[in-house]
Amino acid sequence: MKNFDSEKHVRGESQFVDDLLVPEGTLYAHVYYSRVAHGKILSINLSAAETMTGVTAIFTSKDIPGANQIGGIVPDEPLLAEQYVHFNGQPIAVVVADSAFHARSATEKIVVEIEKLPVITDPREAFSKNELLVPPMTIELGDINATWSKCDIVVEGIAETGGQEHLYLETQGAFAVPVEGGAVKVVSSTQGPTAVQRTISKVLNIPMNKIEVDVLRLGGGFGGKEDQATPWAVMCALAATKLRRPVKMILHRQDDMRMTGKRHPYSSDFKIGLKSDGTILAYEVTFYQNGGAAADLSPAVLQRTMFHCTNSYFIPNVKAIGYSCRTNLPPNTAFRGFGGPQGKFVIEAAIFKAAEAMNVEPSFIQKKNLLKNGDEFPYGQIAERCQAIPCWNSLEQKISIGNVKKKVDDFNSANEWKKKGFALMPICFGISFTNTMMNQASALVHIYTDGSVGISTAAIEMGQGVNMKIHAIAQKIFSINTERIKLESTNTTRVANTSPTAASSGADLNGMATQLACNVLLERLIKFAAEQLHQYDPTKISISDEKIFNDGKETEWTWTKLISAANAARISLTSHHFYSTPKIYFNRESSKGHPFAYHVFGTALIEVTLDCLRGTYEIDAVNIVHDVGKSLQPAIDLSQAEGAIMQGIGWMTVEEIIYNNEGRLITDALSTYKVPDVHFAPKEMNISFLENSENPFAPFNSKAIGEPPFMYGIGAYFALLNAIKAFRPNTTYSAIAPMTPERALSLLYKEVGTLAPAL
Ligand code: MTE
Ligand code: HPA
Ligand code: MOS
Repeated sequence: MKNFDSEKHVRGESQFVDDLLVPEGTLYAHVYYSRVAHGKILSINLSAAETMTGVTAIFTSKDIPGANQIGGIVPDEPLLAEQYVHFNGQPIAVVVADSAFHARSATEKIVVEIEKLPVITDPREAFSKNELLVPPMTIELGDINATWSKCDIVVEGIAETGGQEHLYLETQGAFAVPVEGGAVKVVSSTQGPTAVQRTISKVLNIPMNKIEVDVLRLGGGFGGKEDQATPWAVMCALAATKLRRPVKMILHRQDDMRMTGKRHPYSSDFKIGLKSDGTILAYEVTFYQNGGAAADLSPAVLQRTMFHCTNSYFIPNVKAIGYSCRTNLPPNTAFRGFGGPQGKFVIEAAIFKAAEAMNVEPSFIQKKNLLKNGDEFPYGQIAERCQAIPCWNSLEQKISIGNVKKKVDDFNSANEWKKKGFALMPICFGISFTNTMMNQASALVHIYTDGSVGISTAAIEMGQGVNMKIHAIAQKIFSINTERIKLESTNTTRVANTSPTAASSGADLNGMATQLACNVLLERLIKFAAEQLHQYDPTKISISDEKIFNDGKETEWTWTKLISAANAARISLTSHHFYSTPKIYFNRESSKGHPFAYHVFGTALIEVTLDCLRGTYEIDAVNIVHDVGKSLQPAIDLSQAEGAIMQGIGWMTVEEIIYNNEGRLITDALSTYKVPDVHFAPKEMNISFLENSENPFAPFNSKAIGEPPFMYGIGAYFALLNAIKAFRPNTTYSAIAPMTPERALSLLYKEVGTLAPAL
């Protein structure tokens, strides 16, 4: 089965927000944002801008009819700045004009006087000034304090990971059309249409039933449109309802990069204690999360960091503390992995350091401590159907770690200026929104009288193939031609009260709801067919390849005949069904519970070659055994894994977000922000799916795929560190990512810029 979107994509026929034909009279909006990261607004002068060609109106916070508030978890973020600005890129005014060009030109004429205030960009500095977005979080298992003295080795250090730009191909944007009675219809490039609807309701002070949000597809989201697609949709809705005209806004790439938040940078302290045989006894970690100027999703992201602080290892004594620190940067937000990668990087750094102290391979410690069934996670959940060891062992069967080590060592002794390195990276990622309440979805399935099927769910298609998976579920159940099934846009009027498509659970939650809805229809149709075929026992009726079978024998009834007859007999051909994940809960006071429906496991082995004169490097090979359960769409799962690994490697290596001390984004274009390209891709990438993995918590024993493979990318960092140490064994370092060529050079030589020691 091929992706039904791919042909449209290649021909440029797929529609994104900017491709929709707009009605006559449509206006275009452009945002004026602060160039100061922290300050008091003294005056806003719009008069020059207002007289510019084509300008219809300019809106500021004073024009907001409801609450000037877009904070989802904590109400701490205005749509448009009032007295203060808290980050460079914070929206202050929205200019609406007859063309996008006029709107943009007028924006340049706005004059805002701001009295500068001190800027904080570093999370530890924010922490020292008690600038926290939410109260600290703690998770504890066992008793670390009683354990340190029992350890043979105790190692301490710091670890840091950087931000990451989402770089969805389709920038943020929205389009709003006023509807009679003060209502509004909004097309938004969002992962969370209900969040958009709810926020418009709050800001415009109109009930949610007057707001219809529709999403056909996104040109990528990666978490960057879970929360941060909302403001642009609200601005369009505000202007559209005020002016009674359609209003469209599409962000320019540079504005998008400057105004939106990114992956959270973290700075962390760790302490790890082991027995001399490599068993980890205790782990203590403190996370300083760089949250930016408002909470956005930071508390939920930090929560997941805490949950994943031990990666796929069992550690009996753990204490993790997390601080979500307020800085003068754009509010950082969801990004593939949602804090999980940041948590895992620190434990991997701790294991790497411990391995040095013990003079063993990091993989020796990793393997020794892999999770098993019955082990307790720091958050109280017990590991079930644990595939950590099966994945590791299966990888070792395919590729011998000993042989890889020998190959690397041989190369390194034969080459002076190039060094190879390798690392293993096991992963364990919990599936479910960490906020239990969000784990719900619904599906609305219509069978039309011609036998074609239309499916609406809460899932957003953003390139991850969720529509293909839901399609496959309906196709399996009805056993009809694939062309008969269409996935509709995601629309808040057809499917209400949705959770965003995030947490890798889009296909799980919406797929389960679709499965339930389709089963209701199938049961109804089978019962009707049984009556028509004078078959007393409906279990004897089945549908296969569009034909109706009675007691295993083909009848002259077909799918289309059955549907048309059912409609004539006044049988409903529509079903709506709801799904909520069973068994999950979490107690925030005790930090214990069963937050995840299940876990995804896997192990990667990454090999790299480092050019020790230049600090540049290549990713030679990535070998992985990954647990996808029973894949619903193997081609999609494979491409999700490949894409996620590339994105993970990019985060760990070449992608570097730099803000200067004034809080201005330096890397605000693709000339200064480097992303991995096809030449940087691993020369070899072998991904196998673990066999015999069952999972009752997702449709047809499948497993979520979207985020987990991102974390294999962490292996690239430690493979590079391994290569650096082959060149300069006594290099002193802290695990600071990304390992850009510049950073690699600084670790290869005592001082950056000095010549190689042999010269
Ligand atoms: N793949 C593509 N092509 N584009 C995306 O935006 N987002 C990722 C992942 N894969 C994304 C993607 C993120 S952050 C998540 S949470 C999941 O897809 C969401 O979709 P799912 O729940 O259907 O897996
Ligand atoms: N993952 C992704 N997005 C989320 C989550 C989560 O666990 N919780 C809230 N939004
Ligand atoms: Mo993904 S970060 O949960 O949108």
